Amino acid sequence: MQDIRSAVAAEFQQVNELIIDQLHSDVDMVENIGHYIVDAGGKRLRPLLVLLTAASLDSCHAQAIKFAAVIEFIHTATLLHDDVVDISSLRRGRPTANAEFGNAPSVLVGDFLYTRAFQLMVQLGDMDILRHMADTTNTIAEGEVLQLVRAGDAKTTQAQYLDVITRKTAILFAAGCYGAATLCGVDERTRQNMHDFGLNLGIAFQMIDDVLDYEGDPAAMGKNVGDDLNEGKPTLPLIYTLQNGNKEEQALITRAITEKTADDIADVLAAVQRCGALDYTRQRAQHYHDQAMVVLEGLPAGPARDALAQITALSIHRDH
Ligand code: IPE
Ligand code: IPE
Ligand code: MG
Ligand code: MG
Repeated sequence: MQDIRSAVAAEFQQVNELIIDQLHSDVDMVENIGHYIVDAGGKRLRPLLVLLTAASLDSCHAQAIKFAAVIEFIHTATLLHDDVVDISSLRRGRPTANAEFGNAPSVLVGDFLYTRAFQLMVQLGDMDILRHMADTTNTIAEGEVLQLVRAGDAKTTQAQYLDVITRKTAILFAAGCYGAATLCGVDERTRQNMHDFGLNLGIAFQMIDDVLDYEGDPAAMGKNVGDDLNEGKPTLPLIYTLQNGNKEEQALITRAITEKTADDIADVLAAVQRCGALDYTRQRAQHYHDQAMVVLEGLPAGPARDALAQITALSIHRDH
């Protein structure tokens, strides 16, 4: 990561400073919870994507720094909301905000971060970006609701899974890259290419997240394993096992999804592994990684493009 950041190190530092600066509120609780989640770190992958996209197309100017902070604020807001919905207790190596402060404060501070992002976007003064981000955040909200609807549904198809992860995760990666390209004033085709790059990268990223939820190391991830099973989330490892497992394995997984329980996680993991479902999910992530790389080849060569290629590779070869 350190290596990848070096292409835009100074700008990255400015984004982090802007994020801290923009957490300011007269209401103590807003600032406390905001700092609680932001100070815990996180990979800052999305702002890095924004900066590197801008750097690869043009120069990385002040507008891109502000936009990178916007994207990280929106991401952080979705995490606050997501941990309430998923009843998660660990995030970024510490108790989640909902575990520490309660559900209501987490939801409301999530709203603060969402709206702060829009205040910053208005400062950018670009109607195309504002429209795109309004649509993007609306789609993310739909994605999270759609996921809620699918929870407990063992009949969920691979296509429906892809639809959920595209909306809840990939669309923000796409919007970050699209927005950065827009700020650079490049032609519509290049903007669309950057959108497609981000979308493919985001899909691959979420697929790996769904693998790590089964076989990751909580100490490395800073999140618990088994959260998805506990919520009855029909993610790709389970969908594949349902399609390829024997009768007993199908019954086991169907029950775990329908009853939204991780009680049998050891047996579920054994079934998932026997069917090769985690390998299959990694293969699908590799496919979207490859698609993203094809788009990248159309960008001007240089250190920023190299760093984007490294992020893409890292997104599927990661432990956190
Ligand atoms: C977590 O995103 C949510 C998903 C889309 C899987 P990250 O893994 O980027 O979270 P942080 O920001 O590094 O904590
Ligand atoms: C990503 O899904 C959530 C959002 C995009 C808001 P997950 O629920 O899998 O993310 P984690 O695993 O909690 O970070
Ligand atoms: Mg979650
Ligand atoms: Mg997850």
